Amino acid sequence: MPDSSAVAARAATALSKEQRVALFAQVPNTPGAPKPDATLVVDGVSRTFGGLKAVDVAHLEIQRGCITGLIGPNGAGKTTLFNLLTGFDRPDTGTWSMDGQPLGKMHPHQVARKGVVRTFQLTKALSKLTVLDNVRLGATGQRGERILSTLLPWTWKAQERQITERAYELLARFKLDAKADDLAGSLSGGQRKLLEMARALMTDPAVVMLDEPMAGVNPALTQSLLGHIKSLRDDGMTVVFVEHDMDVIRDISDWVVVMAQGSVIAESTPEELSNNGAVVDAYLGSHHDQALEFDEDGNPVGATAELAEALEQAEAEELEAGGDLSEPEFVAPDLAAGPGKHAKEEDEK
Ligand SMILES: Nc1ncnc2c1ncn2[C@@H]1O[C@H](COP(=O)(O)OP(=O)(O)OP(=O)(O)O)[C@@H](O)[C@H]1O
Ligand SMILES: [Mg+2]
Repeated sequence: MPDSSAVAARAATALSKEQRVALFAQVPNTPGAPKPDATLVVDGVSRTFGGLKAVDVAHLEIQRGCITGLIGPNGAGKTTLFNLLTGFDRPDTGTWSMDGQPLGKMHPHQVARKGVVRTFQLTKALSKLTVLDNVRLGATGQRGERILSTLLPWTWKAQERQITERAYELLARFKLDAKADDLAGSLSGGQRKLLEMARALMTDPAVVMLDEPMAGVNPALTQSLLGHIKSLRDDGMTVVFVEHDMDVIRDISDWVVVMAQGSVIAESTPEELSNNGAVVDAYLGSHHDQALEFDEDGNPVGATAELAEALEQAEAEELEAGGDLSEPEFVAPDLAAGPGKHAKEEDEK
């Protein structure tokens, strides 16, 4: 169990906004860029499913005490990378470490004991257990310690009491304490995300990896979730989080890492993301700024031809449905859907 002095010591290391900006000012916008004070360092990690290279990360450094946003299209390998780094899956190749200590070949609870925890894209709350017990389950290495503690009942009783106290503290932090005795199955999607965060924090981790903490959360709760994620940074923790909504990414990330087809293709501050051609092509969508292309006969070619076809088809569908193309609000759906399209789909999942 973390003691409160350790928690306070970490909080004292929390960085101010100015300090965080200064840290990244010297970091080049290149994939695998070295960080001034990296905590997690990943080297040559790859994972293949069948013939598909789901993850192929040559080098990645995560800056301590900051929020790193991890973005990329569906299937880019974000979740698989989280699974590998936290011991839920095994890579084909590669090594990674936290503060110089290797984390490979470990089980998830061993990785957690070293200080790295994660939450899941699809929440893993055990619906038949109470909210309190779900959080208590986050305590480190309970299984291994059980064997010893059955021999020494007085030690486990004290430990159980500490675990329960810490669980209540965390439930209060996430405003779930009134629901401690309810079954986790009765919580809303957003409350389950909070429950998962509470459980992840039981071991007072140094690094928290959140896989789409906002997905499926009622918009009314997203602001409070965002606040909670920022509060982890205020406690001196390092946060890596996957998110599709670019407004959220811009709001809370100190640094953004972009994955596509398994690899890191770009890194930068959130402000500089849209200056990066590779990111725009792979993720943010390039239709809008792209020059239109025609052949000598004036027929559209390449991406322009695709756009023209989409427009034609949308017009035909609109006419078939009895619509009127002279209406000024008619916009072909493919053209209207900008970079925000993806985020909306995620919300509805
Ligand atoms: N257990 C598995 N078996 C086979 N293929 C898998 C498995 N897990 C992931 N994949 C494949 O690996 C690729 C990367 O998937 P991953 O879930 O890591 O992407 P992601 O970036 O998290 O996507 P999303 O934004 O949709 O969550 C995808 O092509 C996916 O289909
Ligand atoms: Mg995913």
